[in-house]
Amino acid sequence: MARLKDKVIMVTGGARGLGEAEARRFAAEGAMVAICDVLEAEGRETAAAIGAAGGRACFFPLDVTDERAWEATVRAVKAWGGGIHGLVNNAGIVNRTGTSGTTLEAWSRVLAVNLTGAFLGIRAVAPVMRDSGGGAIVSIASVAAYTGHNDPAYSTTKAGVLGLTRSAAMEFVDWGIRVNAVSPGIIVTALNEGGGHLEPWRRATPLGRYGRMEEVANTVLFLLSDEASFITGEDIAVDGGFKAGGAARRISVEAGIDLTAPIA
Ligand code: NAI
Repeated sequence: MARLKDKVIMVTGGARGLGEAEARRFAAEGAMVAICDVLEAEGRETAAAIGAAGGRACFFPLDVTDERAWEATVRAVKAWGGGIHGLVNNAGIVNRTGTSGTTLEAWSRVLAVNLTGAFLGIRAVAPVMRDSGGGAIVSIASVAAYTGHNDPAYSTTKAGVLGLTRSAAMEFVDWGIRVNAVSPGIIVTALNEGGGHLEPWRRATPLGRYGRMEEVANTVLFLLSDEASFITGEDIAVDGGFKAGGAARRISVEAGIDLTAPIA
């Protein structure tokens, strides 16, 4: 299998969690993966593990909020791989306080990482991608982009990522660049581990379980690959049906309503 053969793909937040799963998946499909993260030790470990498994990966330290660092990293990745064909804006943080409890500093930090980071990434990478013969960008949003959420800063950034995705898709279509998003539901990672919301969220997920990191990675892989050649400006939820009707489904379960039975 080599659905990304010799493609150079940057993954922000690639040191651990979903980003690591994406990096491993892409490398297994023949990509050269640039793992970009603020976590240097973990990032180097992930790149080394991919290398030990026969894949190609290199770690590049990057804080996605740093405009200058983006320019330097894009230059370094281009020098390493000879071009850039894919970018996954995966780095993200949470805040988990309501609007009334969120300081301006905390609000600004979440916006800087989750939304401005994706903007800086797209802006820095797009010209190199055009000069590399085109490519694909995928930003990781969330079902929190669609629903009221107990982390308003997070929710706002994820809704913003969808606006950015659609706008960039229109802007870069003539450069041969497709721009899409993926919205995961609940997947247990360091981001949410131990959170009291996990189990209730699982119960509200129609498929009745947490998602697996590989399930997100597979969807991002699809959008990066030529199999998705007619898809741009789109968002794909990988959420076990949560966005489609998790609340209604849960109400039916709690009320003992058999959805397959004829309506009396
Ligand atoms: P994680 O916390 O395991 O991974 C996030 C990665 O982003 C870490 O490696 C971290 O060092 C990196 N990062 C944070 N700030 C950074 C910065 N300024 N510059 C560069 N890298 C930075 O979390 P997880 O769950 O793997 O999250 C990945 C993405 O998926 C995030 O965008 C998150 O919002 C999104 N997501 C996760 C869900 C889940 O249930 N785990 C659900 C929906 C979306």
